[in-house]
Amino acid sequence: MKKIQIINGPNLNLLGKREPSVYGSCSFDMYLVELKAEYPLLQIDYFQSNIEGELIDVIQTVGFDYDGIILNAGAYTHTSIALHDAIRSIQTPVIEVHISNVHARESFRHTSMLSAACKGVILGFGLDSYRLAIEAFIK
Ligand code: DQA
Repeated sequence: MKKIQIINGPNLNLLGKREPSVYGSCSFDMYLVELKAEYPLLQIDYFQSNIEGELIDVIQTVGFDYDGIILNAGAYTHTSIALHDAIRSIQTPVIEVHISNVHARESFRHTSMLSAACKGVILGFGLDSYRLAIEAFIK
C-alpha cells in the first residue's frame, strides 16, 4: 500500500470558514473523507499546523518512509528557507499544492521558496489540487 502524507500549514485549519470566495466552503476534514473514499488502496495521512517547526518535524519524520508528501505550506511557502531545506533533506518526493491560483493574486504570493526543492507544483484547482497531486504520485 502506498503511503501519502498531506501536510497543511498555517490558517488552513480554517478551510470552509476562511475567505470562502478564495478557498471555498468545504472544511478539509470533510474533503479528506471524500479523498480517502476515492483512493481506498492508499494510506492517506493528514497533518496540519500553524507552526513552521512542526511542519518541518513531520517532513523529517515521514520523509524517509512515505511514497509521497503533498505540502500546502500556506503563507510559509513565500518565506520559509527552513521548509525548503527540509524538503531537500529527505528522500520522499514532495508536491507543492495551493488551493488558489497564487499567480493571479497579490505579488507577494508569486514567489515560492519551496518550488525549486519540490518534484512539482499544482495550484489553482481548489481542493481538487490535492487529488491531482495524488494522481501524480500514483502514475
Ligand atoms: C495558499 C496560498 C497562500 O498564498 C496563502 O498564504 C495560503 C493558502 C493556497 O492554498 O492557495 O494560506 O497556499
